[in-house]
Amino acid sequence: MLVPFQRREGSAKIAVSSVGHRYESVEALKNINIDIHAGQFVCLLGPSGCGKSTLLYALAGHFVPSGGHIAIDGHPVDGPSPQRLLMFQEPALFPWLTVKQNLKFGLRAKGLSRSEAERLALEYITLVHLEGFADALPHQLSGGMRMRVSLARALSMDPAVLLMDEPFAPLDAQTRGHMHQLLQSIWMKTRKTVVFVTHNVREALVLGDRVVVMANRPGRILRDLEVRLPRPRDPDDEKLVEMSRQIRDELKNAELAGQPIEAPENPNPAAKAGGNGRQPDRNPTGDIPRGIVGPVGARR
Ligand SMILES: Nc1ncnc2c1ncn2[C@@H]1O[C@H](COP(=O)(O)OP(=O)(O)O)[C@@H](O)[C@H]1O
Ligand SMILES: [Mg+2]
Repeated sequence: MLVPFQRREGSAKIAVSSVGHRYESVEALKNINIDIHAGQFVCLLGPSGCGKSTLLYALAGHFVPSGGHIAIDGHPVDGPSPQRLLMFQEPALFPWLTVKQNLKFGLRAKGLSRSEAERLALEYITLVHLEGFADALPHQLSGGMRMRVSLARALSMDPAVLLMDEPFAPLDAQTRGHMHQLLQSIWMKTRKTVVFVTHNVREALVLGDRVVVMANRPGRILRDLEVRLPRPRDPDDEKLVEMSRQIRDELKNAELAGQPIEAPENPNPAAKAGGNGRQPDRNPTGDIPRGIVGPVGARR
């Protein structure tokens, strides 16, 4: 059911070749090769510490990795650019500006006239269903609503590539589910190129049309998969749940393979043998189980 991603003809929007990166003794990334094409929604999925954020920040141009090349539209990435917008968990809004003013600020800075900025701000506020909150201040909104403002602001800047680092992780499950539906519907309309980092398997399968599965020590690509499920996707869809179980088993096996001695037996041999012996889903949230989340060195 999990189809390996087929390499495509034509030039890639984002070309990552032989990228490696070390932080002193930690090999955060090793030999990363990915070609991302325009309009793809790619999820980078893996346990904590496998180098997802490091790779995303390298794409954003926030630092130069110690080895390999990254090019966007054929040009080497040598610094941050408004064409590659990075969104974090914490919606970065100006607290003293209203929702509309927050959007207009970026649009005016881009050189748009007052009236064009006003029109676009309202258009994107509508896109994220926040009509009626245009004049609210960020502190008057819920966490999910602030995230929607942040998303509207990022989209209104019309970047060539949207880079998202676990943006919905702090939201409660229900709000996160709403954000998944919203992001899917916006992506179907705009077909932006998105690279979305997550450690949640279900989230990756709901959002991505491609899921790049990464593993730890060294940070590397384990699988590059195409998700052939119709949209909008339901996280409880039977096929999606089954795919999520397979990916979690693969990640678990990769983790066990990295531990030479005393590796426990795979508790779910049926899944390993091809998945015909269906087992109840022991992880309904889709988070990668804690046991396989490697120790993460403190970020300095
Ligand atoms: N600035 C840093 N200095 C030293 N080690 C770092 C730094 N940033 C990340 N690391 C280490 O690099 C590895 C990958 O980190 P990161 O890219 O943040 O992983 P992820 O986003 O997948 O959780 C981890 O082991 C982490 O501790
Ligand atoms: Mg991270």
